[in-house]
Amino acid sequence: MPDVIILGAGTFAKEIVDEIDSTINVICYVVQDEFYYNKIDTIPLSKFKNGYKNVRYLCAIVSTKRKQFIEEFARRVKILPLSFIHKSVYLSKLAEIHNGSIVCPGVIIASNTFIHNHCIINRGATIGHNCTIQSYGTVGPGVNIAGNVHIGEQTTIGMGTNILENITIGNNCIIGAGSLVTRNIPNNQTWYGVPAKHIQ
Ligand SMILES: CC(C)(COP(=O)(O)OP(=O)(O)OC[C@H]1O[C@@H](n2cnc3c(N)ncnc32)[C@H](O)[C@@H]1OP(=O)(O)O)[C@@H](O)C(=O)NCCC(=O)NCCS
Repeated sequence: MPDVIILGAGTFAKEIVDEIDSTINVICYVVQDEFYYNKIDTIPLSKFKNGYKNVRYLCAIVSTKRKQFIEEFARRVKILPLSFIHKSVYLSKLAEIHNGSIVCPGVIIASNTFIHNHCIINRGATIGHNCTIQSYGTVGPGVNIAGNVHIGEQTTIGMGTNILENITIGNNCIIGAGSLVTRNIPNNQTWYGVPAKHIQ
């Protein structure tokens, strides 16, 4: 059973630990700022002491903006990330999940699909064939992504969104919950609705 430091101490972190508690030993939670430093096992990065051996970290931060914190943590603490794929996930033998990503219960990931580093694929999402989700992405619960869809770095797909086939969504975008994405979306934009429209 590996010793694991959890990055983040919000509800998603607690949910993830609840789901994998029997397979890991949680040492502590590490958070970005003093504001959250209110529990005995939660330490802000500024007070975190290095020197752990044979320990991995798991990033349970949903907010793509706050995931910058991972880089800061990894620079200071020379330990490797852990990936987590729940046992109920259907993962094609031809798909890949890269370092530090979390794939939650009930997710389906089809062939030739690549989930890059530190992504969170939330409960019940389905991701079709030949898709890529670049690093630091978050895919919300119940999202359906058709085949050959490419999603840029640090982009959030809100829960229950459907994305049609052959769509490319840029870096650092937000797609609102319950949207239907029918067009390519450039970097740094927020879109929502059915069909999704650009929000100024
Ligand atoms: C798109 C989003 C980021 C916009 O957030 P925001 O900028 O704070 O927007 P607001 O809540 O101020 O809403 C602004 C307007 O957009 C509308 N709106 C917000 N989100 C919408 C959505 N997903 N679809 C349609 N309309 C939406 C609101 O009704 C409001 O309309 P109004 O001005 O006519 O009253 C957010 O609403 C969203 O969908 N986030 C994803 C949530 C999610 O998936 N969470 C996962 C939890 S696990």
